[in-house]
Amino acid sequence: MGVESLLAGLEAAGEITRLRLLALIGEAELTVSELVAILGQSQPRVSRHLKLLVEAGLAERQREGAWAFFRLADGPGGALARDLVARLAPADPILVADRARLEMTREARRRQAAAYFAERAADWDSIRALHAPEERVEAAVMAMIGEKPIRALLDLGTGTGRMLELAAPLAERAIGVDQSPAMLALARSRIEQSGLHNVQLRQGDIYAPPVERDAYDLVIIHQVLHFLDDPARAIAEAARALRPEGRLIVVDFLAHDQEFLREDFAHRHLGFTIREVEAFLTDAGLSSVQTHQILPAPGEPGKLTVAIWLARDMRFFTAEPPAETPTRHTAEIA
Ligand SMILES: C[S@@+](CC[C@H](N)C(=O)[O-])C[C@H]1O[C@@H](n2cnc3c(N)ncnc32)[C@H](O)[C@@H]1O
Repeated sequence: MGVESLLAGLEAAGEITRLRLLALIGEAELTVSELVAILGQSQPRVSRHLKLLVEAGLAERQREGAWAFFRLADGPGGALARDLVARLAPADPILVADRARLEMTREARRRQAAAYFAERAADWDSIRALHAPEERVEAAVMAMIGEKPIRALLDLGTGTGRMLELAAPLAERAIGVDQSPAMLALARSRIEQSGLHNVQLRQGDIYAPPVERDAYDLVIIHQVLHFLDDPARAIAEAARALRPEGRLIVVDFLAHDQEFLREDFAHRHLGFTIREVEAFLTDAGLSSVQTHQILPAPGEPGKLTVAIWLARDMRFFTAEPPAETPTRHTAEIA
């Protein structure tokens, strides 16, 4: 860090409210109104302090619909802030009181998230009842991911963050993107409850994901494609986020005839054939496609089959994509 920026960072952090703010946003992503409630100071005052922290590169502001969340920055300023916060004695009475009020804020979030779920419980359950149990699908996804550590993970259309909860423990850092602030609020609550500190959530469109290119070793698109008017474009965007040798996992329904999902649940596509998604993946420049199907258990008529497609960015292996893409198909039933 240059002398100028180190001095600017130290100056910004060198004030009691700003130091408390850094400690708080080091624990959780928080809105101005949450920080106002925790610190017991006026909104303009808290906003002014936050602005100084952002200008000095210690904190960053992430817009999400009508809300904005503050967290420690990613770059060297954020690293300085983390160093400073790590030096604070956790038993300091000011910090103890701040943490207690932070816990109350988190509890309020958890209650809100639970109320949202309770309202929609019937919807979730009726969709779940249509396909093989979630645990089987999740076990198959995790088996395909394997146990190799992941540097950077991206979950597109993260919804309530379930895929992040499962796979982020394998990753150094993980990003979840969704267009819906309500879903992101649920994801935020779930991630906090899981104690995952390596996850960031961002509001954004799957067609223009707010993420770096060539940066992720694993991208997941789980039960999102059937909502989209242009699934091929979403896959092409996901492929751009992959680093060489990175993997893309797509999970969706196999083509089905449950028309009511269109009217009642805004599904645009009644699932996809294996070939359709394979074509999206190879058109996006990926190859080595493997698929796995999770078939309805015997005695469960009308249940949908869930399919998993795994493809790889082959830039390290070959300059040109192979003419014939090697494919492997497996299927399981309960
Ligand atoms: C059925 S949920 C699946 C969530 C999550 N992947 C999971 O499986 O638990 C579909 C998610 O896709 C998100 N979504 C739909 N269209 C999107 C778009 N164009 N950009 C980003 N997210 C989108 C919705 O907001 C919703 O959270």
